[in-house]
Amino acid sequence: MKRFLTVVCISTIIFLFTACSLFRPVNQKTPPATSAAELWQFIKLKDNYSKWDQFDDAEGLLQAAPPHGPLVKIYANDIATGSTYTGRKGSIVIMENYENDGKTLLTINLMQKRPGYAPSAGDWFWATYEPSGKVLEEGKIKSCVECHVSMAFDDYTFIHKW
Ligand code: HEC
Repeated sequence: MKRFLTVVCISTIIFLFTACSLFRPVNQKTPPATSAAELWQFIKLKDNYSKWDQFDDAEGLLQAAPPHGPLVKIYANDIATGSTYTGRKGSIVIMENYENDGKTLLTINLMQKRPGYAPSAGDWFWATYEPSGKVLEEGKIKSCVECHVSMAFDDYTFIHKW
């Protein structure tokens, strides 16, 4: 009887352990690699980007040059701030473009690392939004890539040193 109980106990533990690992909820913080519109929902509702960290080497309100700025604020998700040398899969860098007053938000730029998406352009997905979330452009945007490619040696980013 004792032996039977031990076997039942061990089987139950193994069953629970397996069930828990199988039905573990999907990481809610994994950004979708779909459209810019869906990504907007995610960065506003699921993982609000304004609560993300900034890169240590790009903190606060910074001066920028056209097409960005005149003032910008850069946010990065945990995957990006935890990356070294290049942005890991799922890294998102967001840049808010402000008027000279530092308060009037003009547009929001985003870049998201999607391995296999654009191998000759750092595998970044690009997007620009209005402050309301309206998508202005998205995808493999030629103008973004053509300028950011000059920083290909630092994974296509100008401000942060990976
Ligand atoms: C003519 C060059 C140029 C073009 C075109 C351009 N960028 Fe940039 N981008 C920069 C520079 C330079 C910075 C650094 C901030 C600054 O000095 O303006 C930057 C910074 C950024 C950043 C912050 C991360 C980083 O690289 O440091 C994001 C995000 C970004 N750009 C997205 C975009 C998107 C999206 C587009 C296209 C819609 C785009 N950029 C088009 C030059 C450009």
